[in-house]
Amino acid sequence: MPVFVPLKEVPGVAMGGLPGFGKTSCVNRLVCDWAPSPAVQFAFLDGKVSHAYEGDYADLVQRAFAFCGDDLEKANKLLKELVELRRARSASIRKVLGVKNMWHVGPSEAWPLVVIVIDEAHTYFRDHRGSDPATKRLAALAAENARLAEDLVKKGRSVGLLTFLTTQKTTGDAIPTFIRDVCPVGLSFAQKTADAAVAALGDDIREWPDVSPVTLQDPAYVGVAVMSQHGHPGFIRIRTPYVYDEDAARVAEQTAHLVRHPARLLENLTGRTVVDLTKDDPEPPAVAA
Ligand SMILES: Nc1ncnc2c1ncn2[C@@H]1O[C@H](COP(=O)(O)OP(=O)(O)OP(=O)(O)O)[C@@H](O)[C@H]1O
Ligand SMILES: [Mg+2]
Repeated sequence: MPVFVPLKEVPGVAMGGLPGFGKTSCVNRLVCDWAPSPAVQFAFLDGKVSHAYEGDYADLVQRAFAFCGDDLEKANKLLKELVELRRARSASIRKVLGVKNMWHVGPSEAWPLVVIVIDEAHTYFRDHRGSDPATKRLAALAAENARLAEDLVKKGRSVGLLTFLTTQKTTGDAIPTFIRDVCPVGLSFAQKTADAAVAALGDDIREWPDVSPVTLQDPAYVGVAVMSQHGHPGFIRIRTPYVYDEDAARVAEQTAHLVRHPARLLENLTGRTVVDLTKDDPEPPAVAA
């Protein structure tokens, strides 16, 4: 049966599952479906790679206004910028759109839905234990990254931000529970243990052993996930459609001209600087008179 997942008014989607069972492919399909619309802009954070030209997002990245690999510091900077965007949108939405909630008028080319994908989210959030300064610094960055992501999910709905978080890790700190619990949609591909299923879907899944993602540990279930939706009791199983890499690459290439930075779009609407991307750049060298 076709299953529809309304993502209107949804600020966050948490996605878990064992390696190779289809988390990234599910995101890939959504990106390909939405890429032809100028009313959608994308930012990708891929915790699995160090550079944009590597890995699962190497082709899709052409359709994104921002990309970041596994560097915690760079992720921190990008998440801060996105939170700045969220704040600037919150401050100006009534004046610009005439409503308090973007979904009352829907996304547009000038005020697009901003889709933020944080793939292998545990890379950015996981706790670093140790007392040496380098480890302490990583721990502080990870804690701040989790707080920033929480801001995006908690406060992003009405201004048109949608954050996807995926992880193959099976503990509550992979996608911190304070973030998971504010994501109205939860998905889990196959899992090894009931605890891992809880980390992705929340405690309720213990009450529904028949549909537990633990039962999906078979190659036949690659691309099959168990889904929860706030406001609906129980869970359903879905099979996500697959897009071949070459098709995804073609879609991204053909739609790359639609990329706009949402902060620049907001500046066009308000005449105010939103996120100064150049503020951390070093000063140009002084020229002797
Ligand atoms: N819906 C699907 N239908 C058929 N095959 C799929 C589907 N989704 C994924 N696959 C196959 O499974 C492979 C792995 O999927 P994917 O990279 O999405 O896994 P993942 O959960 O993101 O893994 P990891 O945690 O290692 O990143 C894909 O390359 C593809 O061959
Ligand atoms: Mg993946």
